[in-house]
Parts: sequence; C-alpha cells; structure tokens
Amino acid sequence: MIVDKEAYIRKIDIAADFIRTRVPDTAEICIVLGSGLGPLADICEDVVTVDYTDIPGFPLSTAPGHKGKLIYGVLSGKKVFMMSGRFHYYEGYEYVDVVFYIRVMARLGVKSLILTNAAGGIKEGMKPASLMIIEDHISFLVDSPLRGPNLDEFGVRFPDQTEVYDREYIDKIQQCADNLGIEMSRGTYVFCKGPQYETPAEIRALKAMGAGAVGMSTVPEAITASHCGMRVAAISCISNLAAGLSPHKLTSEEVIINAGKVSEESCALIRDFVAIM
Ligand code: HPA
Repeated sequence: MIVDKEAYIRKIDIAADFIRTRVPDTAEICIVLGSGLGPLADICEDVVTVDYTDIPGFPLSTAPGHKGKLIYGVLSGKKVFMMSGRFHYYEGYEYVDVVFYIRVMARLGVKSLILTNAAGGIKEGMKPASLMIIEDHISFLVDSPLRGPNLDEFGVRFPDQTEVYDREYIDKIQQCADNLGIEMSRGTYVFCKGPQYETPAEIRALKAMGAGAVGMSTVPEAITASHCGMRVAAISCISNLAAGLSPHKLTSEEVIINAGKVSEESCALIRDFVAIM
C-alpha cells in the first residue's frame, strides 16, 4: 500500500524522466508481453531497449520467461512501448510495485494498454493453445491495487468498473481474429494470487461464478490503467485447462509449451489490432 503519496509520485516521475532520456520518442500504446508474445518485439522497427535494472525504482522481473526489458519501437506504423516482463503479486511484490509501471506509462503519455497473459481455461469447450478475449474480470476475492491513499492526479477514489475492457477494442480484436481465421473465445478472467495453481474445488467455484479463465496477472494492471483513464484491451492465451478439468496435473512447462504454440497467431493478432486502434 502507498504510505507516502508524494514520495511514490516522485518515484514514478523519476522513472518516467529516466525513460524519456533513453527512448527517441514517447508512445500512446503500451503492450504487455505475456507468455509467447516475446517475438512481437522482432517485428517492430526502430527498436530501443531499456533494461528494467537501469530504470530507477523499477522492480525486477523474476518470473520464468519474463525478460525484464522495456522496448520502444514502431509496430504497424504506430509508436509503442512493450513491456517484456511484468511483476506478479506471487513474486512477493506489493500491489503498488506490481502496478508501478502502469503509472509510469501514464506519465509518459500512454493512453491505451494491451495486456496479454497465459491462463487456465474454465469455460466449456475451451482448448489448450487457444486465445480468449477478456471481456470482464472478477477480482473481489483479493485486495485492490488502489487500496490506500488515492492518487487524485491519476484518478478518482471510487472508479467505475462497468467497462474496464474497452468495448470498441473488443470488437476490433474480434474483427482482426476473424480476418486472420483465428477462432477466439470470449470470457471473464479471474485473478488468483498464486503462485500455486488452483484446486479443482476452487475451479468449480469459479466456474459457478461465470469464469472463463483464471490466471495470476493482468487484473491489478487493468484496474490501475482504468483508474488512470487508459483504454484497456486484454487477451489470454489458454495455456492449459484449469485444475480438475485437465486429464493431468498442471505444470509451468505445459503453460510455456502451449503459449508457444499460439505465439505466431497472438503476435499477428496484436500486430493487426494495433494497426486499427
Ligand atoms: N491457473 C492460474 N494461472 C495460470 C494457469 C492456471 O491454470 N495457467 C496459466 N496461468
């Protein structure tokens, strides 16, 4: 939780000022590269990379497959920031650190956030190595990243959550998927803190609540971005069937292998979506 509001805002500004000295320009779009999305950076032009370790105040990314690099580049003719590596609550970070980079991006002028992740599929008919558009989320089971003193210059104390995920963006992602011949499901993403995967009983409970998929990221960032007034789009790679729905036990290897299988499709989808944002 934020203890000293002024000190936290100063820390955000110091990080943003540092990034400005290292990238040629600012960008209005930020893409968070979840599992399997790494190759998106390879189809960007004019790429400049900044290590998280160089950015003052930035946490370190410790999750497997998360590189810890901020990438600036041009994708589909648009200037973008890409986060190769994010921060998860399960790594031991407080929520203020998990979402720190979102506020830094807001200070840099980012208006649209594209979040991607790997998630366990819950909804009937879902297949591993497929994609889901996140239409909404459930996060009342956990603390809010906005708990504590409100940062009034970023957003209001009691932000509306009717449309965290921008409707127009959802339609545009669907349109791009249709054009590319990618079959996508749509659903509600439930944030669980991890790092342990869920139990079958937890998944049955989440399914009864209307969950489409479950994962350990994305929601704190989406809440914070919407608090800052950003438009948010989010896509899950269904890397496995959730616990109890899968014929076998869950492993992080399965998650990485299946995220890799849809890597090409996910990158093409985001490339085309950025073009029409
Ligand atoms: N549960 C939570 N997080 C995940 C899963 C899952 O089944 N798969 C990938 N991330």
